[in-house]
Amino acid sequence: MYDLYPYFTNDGSVGLYSPQADDIYHSVYGALTEAYQKFILPADFENYFLNNNQIKILDICYGIGYNSKSFLNYFFENIFKNKKFFNDKKMCTETIYTDNNLTNKKSCFSSNSTTYNVSLHTDKIFGNKNINSSENYKIYIKTIDTDKNLVYLSPFFKNFGKNKKMLFSNEKIEKFQKVKVERKYKLKKYINHIIFENLIKNFGLDLFSKELEDILFDKKYTSFFDPNICRLYKSYKFTRYPKTSKGLQPAFLHNIYYRYITKRHKKALNGLKIDNINIEYKINDARNVLLEDKNTYNFVFLDGFTPAKCPMLWTEEFFKLLYEHLDEGGMILTYSCSANVRNALSKAGFNIGKNYSAELNKDIGTIAVKNSDVKYPLSEFDLGLMKTRAGIIYHDKNFTLTNEQILAAHKKEVENSTLMSSTSYLKTKNRETLCKNHENK
Ligand SMILES: C[S@@+](CC[C@H](N)C(=O)[O-])C[C@H]1O[C@@H](n2cnc3c(N)ncnc32)[C@H](O)[C@@H]1O
Repeated sequence: MYDLYPYFTNDGSVGLYSPQADDIYHSVYGALTEAYQKFILPADFENYFLNNNQIKILDICYGIGYNSKSFLNYFFENIFKNKKFFNDKKMCTETIYTDNNLTNKKSCFSSNSTTYNVSLHTDKIFGNKNINSSENYKIYIKTIDTDKNLVYLSPFFKNFGKNKKMLFSNEKIEKFQKVKVERKYKLKKYINHIIFENLIKNFGLDLFSKELEDILFDKKYTSFFDPNICRLYKSYKFTRYPKTSKGLQPAFLHNIYYRYITKRHKKALNGLKIDNINIEYKINDARNVLLEDKNTYNFVFLDGFTPAKCPMLWTEEFFKLLYEHLDEGGMILTYSCSANVRNALSKAGFNIGKNYSAELNKDIGTIAVKNSDVKYPLSEFDLGLMKTRAGIIYHDKNFTLTNEQILAAHKKEVENSTLMSSTSYLKTKNRETLCKNHENK
């Protein structure tokens, strides 16, 4: 039986814990708050949609989908319903892809002794129609995760719950659970419907596996799942399926879905023109997906487990691969503020900035931009830290190493390094600040 360790984070959204990785999937502070503050707000989508009405997002480490869900929620609540966007006069009516720019970008880049090629063909995600109204917005999201069960479960989790009783014991989580967090962000109910519909489109009847059912209807998890979506799921169970080919299954399931959702939801979904949303799910190692992917993106959400536990998604080589998969001005958003992650992003060719939270008075992430300026550049202190041992980068030249292999090679490099340690760097910087303060007295 699949192990699930859910609990309610401090903003009422469901968070998960992984005993295998001994890591949390989401901040105890608030899973939804984290998605908004680290991925959605710093992306400045309002600015993006002043000049564009189509967007391509790559959600790496989708898990149960908070980042994609928060994006969709933000899009509908703040952009789609706001008249200042999709205004014909302001709209750029140029297409992203036309026959004229059907280039076959081929790029080679080398990292020390190894060279690898990524050839990006023009994608046909959006076709080449001129588009200039909200009716015709286009959203394409590619999500990647190795854990099929989590992806399948993603539309079933409740958006909000109060029960702080834990199903398992974990000191760190329980300690942080006492912090009170204001519930600033709310996911609309229709978001889970959009996710569910897109999962049906991607996976057809495979979605209705015995394994998923065992989790969904296990009594100990009842308080974490949305009864409405669970009821919808059950309605499929009582349907007799004709022997349809795999290709026809999604359409068939879609019809059942529309038969069972409430009139209110049907109306809401039709009003949002959700056919303009295309979510593609990839269940695989993100490295393999990207090596085969021919698309380019405007935004990447990178939400892997911490670099010290899952370094394969934080290597210089992986960032170079991401660089090749971004359009000009494209952006990677991540929660990591590690000096070695920033250093690797910089080596991969990005301009690096920070995501600073005034509320928490600290950096809560990093923003890497391709061939464009960052809003909040790194400080001199941050740049200095990248030159210490803390800035030593993870490597995975052929995209074949395990996390353990990457960590072992990195440990060796740190041990043999002649660079200043981050502790000495901090001491020097503290001393400098003290001297400056003294001189200014
Ligand atoms: C911190 S959690 C992400 C949480 C997620 N963004 C959410 O909203 O629920 C990390 C995720 O990375 C996935 N993962 C780990 N290694 C991976 C890899 N090499 N490629 C793709 N996904 C991976 C795990 O299955 C897990 O769901």
